[in-house]
Amino acid sequence: MRFQSVCVLGLGYIGLPTASTLAKSGIKVFGVDVDQKVLDNLKEGQIHIHEPGLHELAREALDSRSLTLSNRPEEADAFVIAVPTPVTEDNKADLSHVLEAAEAIVPHLRKGNLVMLESTCPPRTTLDQVAPILERSGLAAGPDFFLAYTPERVLPGHILQELVENARVIGGIDAASAEAGRDLYRAFVDGEILLTDATTAETVKLLENTYRDINIAAANEFSQLAERLGVDVWEAIRLANRHPRVEILQPGPGVGGHCIGVDPWFLVEATPDLTPLIQQARAVNDGQPAHSADLIEQALGGLSGKRIAALGLSYKPNVGDLRGSPAIEIVARLVEGGAEVHTFEPYAQAASVGGAAAERSLKDTLEGADAAVLLVNHRDFVELDPRQAAQAMTGRVAVDLRGAWEAEPWRAAGFDIYTLGVGKPDA
Ligand SMILES: NC(=O)c1ccc[n+]([C@@H]2O[C@H](COP(=O)([O-])OP(=O)(O)OC[C@H]3O[C@@H](n4cnc5c(N)ncnc54)[C@H](O)[C@@H]3O)[C@@H](O)[C@H]2O)c1
Repeated sequence: MRFQSVCVLGLGYIGLPTASTLAKSGIKVFGVDVDQKVLDNLKEGQIHIHEPGLHELAREALDSRSLTLSNRPEEADAFVIAVPTPVTEDNKADLSHVLEAAEAIVPHLRKGNLVMLESTCPPRTTLDQVAPILERSGLAAGPDFFLAYTPERVLPGHILQELVENARVIGGIDAASAEAGRDLYRAFVDGEILLTDATTAETVKLLENTYRDINIAAANEFSQLAERLGVDVWEAIRLANRHPRVEILQPGPGVGGHCIGVDPWFLVEATPDLTPLIQQARAVNDGQPAHSADLIEQALGGLSGKRIAALGLSYKPNVGDLRGSPAIEIVARLVEGGAEVHTFEPYAQAASVGGAAAERSLKDTLEGADAAVLLVNHRDFVELDPRQAAQAMTGRVAVDLRGAWEAEPWRAAGFDIYTLGVGKPDA
């Protein structure tokens, strides 16, 4: 099958790179978003997502009009749904955006079209929720139009490269739908394309992220027991990983982002009685921000009135994505504990946390601080010279929640350094 036009619904971290990449491959793309601000910004040439190369790629697609923007879908050969799927307060999948996107497609759906769902969803969403909505068009899923699910597994910071190079799983509601999906993604995917059924493809995505969540939870639990036992967990993990069949992940202040901390809940919701391990892993990872705030409080001998330089707010290094970030929860806890917190997030400078002061430079953040806390291992923070920190700061406490600062240079600059997962041997 050949696709001459594609309508992409949702122009966020996944949809905008996908729409721009499709446009580059010679397909006419209609980019749809319900957020007028997103559309206005794009029309003015402002790309609302910090992702290397995306600005240039999207600009090229917009300038050449191979990508055009609208707040509602248009007729096209294929539709790609890439809208958010958050969890509700009680950790249930919020599918409202997916269902609204499917409803918006209905008036434009024609015989022979392909609809691809890319949003991460609970198992059976494509079959049980999306297909019935699309069938309100009077067309039958399968006989009249193709319908398939494809999980997205790109790494923020490397999205444009991984979109093309990663292996891609495509699950159809029938074999012809999977094949139609393969024909669409072949337009830009160099990686292997693996076909399966829709529910398996939905489950694949959830297994991938749940596997990572559980393994991060193990590393986090190891970090807490190492603190108690007077062991350096980073050293212990490094040595354990010399075993040919062991690959322990890195501990940290918690799991954030749109995926790893969210997707396991979709499996819990689908099979609550069969997921004790998944639920426990979620609890361990969700407990890390509170544990991190306790470490900071202990390092400072109390929080009240202490000035803290909080380095980073995003959920991972060298990107500006703040969604579900443990750093934000930690800062909120420090503020609640009475500390005067100054934050600096170089990749999202407007980012702020209630009660904390958002600074625009590392120097201003460190100025007069009692403690410097490494929340996110952004390159510039990891490379911070402790002597430079000492010049700006009043106190001499450094707290490293990422295992990224070498202790010796900090000690040499006069600091007491505390690292998550590092117990005091004589404690
Ligand atoms: N960000 C990632 O790294 C990543 C990786 C893998 C999978 N995913 C999954 O991909 C999906 C999209 O995630 P994202 O990070 O791109 O989200 P996002 O929040 O960055 O962007 C989603 C966009 O969709 C728009 N939108 C909401 N409802 C809409 C509708 N009915 N019609 C059109 N547009 C609508 C929003 O305004 C927003 O601009 C989610 O299910 C997510 O779990 C994301």
